[in-house]
Amino acid sequence: NKRVKIKTILDESPVGKEVTLMGWVRTKRSNKNVSFIALNDGSTITNYQIVADPTIISEDILKKCATGACLKVTGTVVESQGAGQASELNAISIQVLGEADPEKYPLQPKRHSLEFLREIAHLRMRTNTFSAVFRVRHALAFAVNKYFNDKGFFYIHTPIITASDAEGAGETFKVTTLDLKNPPLTKDGDIDYREDFFEREANLTVSGQLEGELAAMALSEIYTFGPTFRAENSNTARHLAEFWMIEPEMAFYDAEDNQDLAEDFLKYIIQYALDNCGSDLEFLDKRLAEEEKGKPQDQRSEMGLVEKLKFVAENEFVRLTYTEAIDILRNSKPNKKKKFAYLIDEWGADLQSEHERYLVEKHFKKPVILTDYPKEIKSFYMRQNDDGKTVAAMDILFPGIGEIVGGSQREERLDVLTQRMEEMNIPQDEMWWYLDTRRFGATPHAGFGLGFERMVLFVTGMSNIRDVIAFPRTPGNAEF
Ligand code: 4AD
Ligand code: MG
Repeated sequence: NKRVKIKTILDESPVGKEVTLMGWVRTKRSNKNVSFIALNDGSTITNYQIVADPTIISEDILKKCATGACLKVTGTVVESQGAGQASELNAISIQVLGEADPEKYPLQPKRHSLEFLREIAHLRMRTNTFSAVFRVRHALAFAVNKYFNDKGFFYIHTPIITASDAEGAGETFKVTTLDLKNPPLTKDGDIDYREDFFEREANLTVSGQLEGELAAMALSEIYTFGPTFRAENSNTARHLAEFWMIEPEMAFYDAEDNQDLAEDFLKYIIQYALDNCGSDLEFLDKRLAEEEKGKPQDQRSEMGLVEKLKFVAENEFVRLTYTEAIDILRNSKPNKKKKFAYLIDEWGADLQSEHERYLVEKHFKKPVILTDYPKEIKSFYMRQNDDGKTVAAMDILFPGIGEIVGGSQREERLDVLTQRMEEMNIPQDEMWWYLDTRRFGATPHAGFGLGFERMVLFVTGMSNIRDVIAFPRTPGNAEF
């Protein structure tokens, strides 16, 4: 008997047929006459009910069908007597593929806290919440590839090991084969990287953008979708040391084309999840509603999860410049008693997350595309505007998340770019390959980066970024 997935049975409801299911026991209820086993195989959020008659299935086997055990069940699909499900399986035979000692199995058939589940990340995907999150994450990743493929963009796999620090923030993880306790030294006493595997210093990539720009100068419209690494020591619910980023890069696009693409793309992948993850989103919607009940009234969100996703997918984002945003913030009173912890009095200051959240959650109540930031607080590669003070940057801010996208039109003018690099102390000789794109066949181009986990957070309604990636890497966490 070939295995059939629970999702297939629910979709096709093959009443009268004999099928074989394989999956893990979520719960078991027994009385003298019958045992009910809720089986889950991960294909869908729904547990499938197995009805086991103790005159057919031995007591010894039934005892082993404890929470966490893995079973192979052959039986007949019958119409269900109980409410809640259309069909169930009358077991003819049960084979216990893998036992789980109920005394030792950490997952009990009750609600565990997300903090506790983070400690057992190797098992947490076996819960309803996490299996739903990872099915939605999969759907979003698929939607990303589908969106760009349908638009004729090419997927470029940029390197994970590189020598460049694209964002220039100096927060890279070093990659070396040298014994750093006893490294080879140069005459001057510095570490001699010529003896290293790559014969130079190297690090894990912080962004595929610069290599993406090289590809866009040949294939016109490309995207990368890969892991990126940042050794920033920010222990927040929005930061990971290893996260996945989607970075499209397009020749012949200006800043406005870039904004149009980003808005269309974000709406598309949210709509894709709405269209393809119905039962998981319904479950996560209820989970979030439960969680919200525990919060004080004024901190609860006004919309349910699915309602919020539809709203974002169907409404225009707000677009405004940094300068306009500063004016709004200066004139705002975020709550009656106190102002922001950090007041923005001067044009030029970077926005703190409380400012971003005020703009999206209180003032506009919509996603916001913020553009034209002061050049001092943005990266060297962003195109300078004619005012000499701002660059053609864009950040997209989402309710409940803050910054979800960062991007810009790129500086394609060699003289302006090299002058900016000089001002920012970025060594030009090491970036000769990047500058070559400005020397040979330069053209206006633009791109952006979407932090994939921040999008998964938004769509699943989870509140900590550690709960939307299978094995989060954060300060002090890299065990498995
Ligand atoms: O704003 P960032 O640093 O921009 C870049 O890396 C550009 N090279 C992108 C481009 O133009 N091609 O990062 C882009 C996005 C952020 O908006 C955020 O969503 C996410 O990446 N991000 C993080 N997500 C999780 N953990 C972190 N530590 C993150 N840092 C950035
Ligand atoms: Mg950014």
